[in-house]
Amino acid sequence: MKWICLWLVVFVYTVVVAENKAVKPGCRAECGELSISYPFGIGRKECYRDKGFEILCNKNGTTFVPYLGINHAQVLNLSDNQVYVRGWSNATITNCSNGAQASDSLVVANLSSSPFTISYTQNKISAFGCNILAYITNSSIDQNYVSGCVSLCRRNSAMNNLDTLNGSACNGIGCCTARIPSGLKAFELQVTKIYTQTEFSRDTDHFNGCSIAVIEDGQFSSKLDKRTSVTSALNNPESRPSIVLDWAIGEHKCKEAEQNAATFGCISKNSTCFDSDNGPGYRCQCLEGYQGNPYLIDGCQGI
Ligand SMILES: *[C@@H]1O[C@H](CO)[C@@H](O)[C@H](O)[C@H]1NC(C)=O
Ligand SMILES: *[C@@H]1O[C@H](CO)[C@@H](O)[C@H](O)[C@H]1NC(C)=O
Ligand SMILES: *[C@@H]1O[C@H](CO)[C@@H](O)[C@H](O)[C@H]1NC(C)=O
Ligand SMILES: *[C@@H]1O[C@H](CO)[C@@H](O)[C@H](O)[C@H]1NC(C)=O
Ligand SMILES: *[C@@H]1O[C@H](CO)[C@@H](O)[C@H](O)[C@H]1NC(C)=O
Ligand SMILES: *[C@@H]1O[C@H](CO)[C@@H](O)[C@H](O)[C@H]1NC(C)=O
Ligand SMILES: *[C@@H]1O[C@H](CO)[C@@H](O)[C@H](O)[C@H]1NC(C)=O
Ligand SMILES: *[C@@H]1O[C@H](CO)[C@@H](O)[C@H](O)[C@H]1NC(C)=O
Repeated sequence: MKWICLWLVVFVYTVVVAENKAVKPGCRAECGELSISYPFGIGRKECYRDKGFEILCNKNGTTFVPYLGINHAQVLNLSDNQVYVRGWSNATITNCSNGAQASDSLVVANLSSSPFTISYTQNKISAFGCNILAYITNSSIDQNYVSGCVSLCRRNSAMNNLDTLNGSACNGIGCCTARIPSGLKAFELQVTKIYTQTEFSRDTDHFNGCSIAVIEDGQFSSKLDKRTSVTSALNNPESRPSIVLDWAIGEHKCKEAEQNAATFGCISKNSTCFDSDNGPGYRCQCLEGYQGNPYLIDGCQGI
């Protein structure tokens, strides 16, 4: 019994110390289930590197829910290179584009001058509906690139079988997917009807004429159950698609960032800098044989 108690004390002590090493002294180390690690932080501005890394911790009944300070997207989890968020505002899913009126549906997201870039390996564009074109551009002014996909259906085709979408990711019937370019921080996502002729009429549409496009990590489209979940995703923040963001520090690569000791982020002994592979900025890591938080003084400790 004594030994168990001693072991528990040592264990608890180790856990507490290890947790505190992840954040600045006196700063909160978690929000609800989420463990926080500097440069992210909660509360006083000393607790996070800059506004882009601020986490808001809001009370919801008896639990706490974390949000990104910049856009109030709910944080699902946080790692040393990525953050999973619930699509913020209505900016990652379009409202219905109504076939009868051939109206366009458009959403805009802008993460410029934030630490975040849309992950191009873990997210995709998914579009659902018939006779639609879904596409993103990285700027409304100079549309430097356009990427997207098309879904066409004929009347009385297999498309009328609504089950094709039930509980499975887009299989290419009545839906389409496209990849996301790397380095994407700002985008406009649009879905537009490309045919309204009778042979491509509304009655072949999955969602009663409602077509949508979404940027997501794949979980939304694989759970999509016809119109109900589209409508609930639009109306209920908690059922919006999740999306993966890569994070990095600053606008510069390591070489330039290192020049300014006052702002350089890799401040722990035995840490090193490496360039982000998605957009601007850099991240830090502990050298081999060390672990901990490279963004804090003495953060990296010998194993
Ligand atoms: C807030 O609490 C309510 C009631 O417990 C729950 O249904 C909802 O999912 C919670 N919201 C978040 C964002 O966790
Ligand atoms: C992060 O959250 C996403 C979405 O809920 C989930 O798919 C993923 O497994 C989570 N990752 C970790 C490491 O918990
Ligand atoms: C989100 O929806 C609201 C209300 O429907 C609208 O006022 C707002 O402009 C939309 N935001 C974006 C980014 O589309
Ligand atoms: C759009 O992408 C191009 C090519 O990567 C880039 O040169 C341009 O600056 C981007 N525009 C915006 C507004 O991000
Ligand atoms: C995003 O915001 C920046 C300023 O923060 C602006 O220069 C840029 O044009 C915006 N991009 C889009 C696509 O709205
Ligand atoms: C969709 O799939 C679920 C579970 O696989 C099943 O219970 C349900 O009946 C299916 N719906 C339709 C319309 O086939
Ligand atoms: C979607 O569009 C419909 C019709 O234009 C509008 O009534 C509704 O408020 C919109 N919903 C959202 C979430 O923007
Ligand atoms: C770790 O840092 C210490 C103190 O700066 C230094 O003496 C040691 O050589 C470093 N270890 C490695 C593997 O670079």
